[in-house]
Amino acid sequence: METYYNQLLSNNKKWVADKLNEDPEFFIKLAHGQKPPVLWIGCSDSRVPANEIIGAPPGEVFVHRNIANMVVHSDMNLLSVLDYAVNVLEVKHIIVCGHYGCGGVQTAMANSHVGLIDNWIRHIKDVYRMNYEELQVIENPKERVNRYVELNVFEQVCNLAKTSIVQGAWERRSDLHLHGWVYDVADGLIKDLQVTLKDNSSLQSVYKLDI
Ligand code: CO
Repeated sequence: METYYNQLLSNNKKWVADKLNEDPEFFIKLAHGQKPPVLWIGCSDSRVPANEIIGAPPGEVFVHRNIANMVVHSDMNLLSVLDYAVNVLEVKHIIVCGHYGCGGVQTAMANSHVGLIDNWIRHIKDVYRMNYEELQVIENPKERVNRYVELNVFEQVCNLAKTSIVQGAWERRSDLHLHGWVYDVADGLIKDLQVTLKDNSSLQSVYKLDI
């Protein structure tokens, strides 16, 4: 284990050397600050590293990750990241990226009691209830969880749109787009769910804020 731990630090030294070899100014440029065009909201799953799967170098993606890529409107961590990304960094794209075979979504579909996390999983269970008619008729458990993953991503994109932060930005500028993606850990490919939102027109009226 100690060897593995030390290996991580040597990997870092090699990475720095490689980057400097490609561009001697690499770190000097990054030290000036960041202006990323993208906010990524993804799952904490170790198989879905945000930058790597979209070939984005350091400086391009502002990242928030939690179990099952949830947008919970009382989550101070998410709200702080979102507010900073939208109002200070002025990102142009917010991508909610789920992944097939997501453990959080699988757990939400079952009845197991895991512990504290049950309370986080509850938010995902709500998405099951909202889409019960569609999900209950899918007999293959793998297909059902994968569709559940897609529906959950869509719901989280809508949750973003419902926030005062996103609606406030839409009132001031037209270049903020919300997207929903699903990554397949089995082949590395991303599916764009084509649920992009550019304004609050598709929200139920009760969620529209007069900002
Ligand atoms: Co996951």
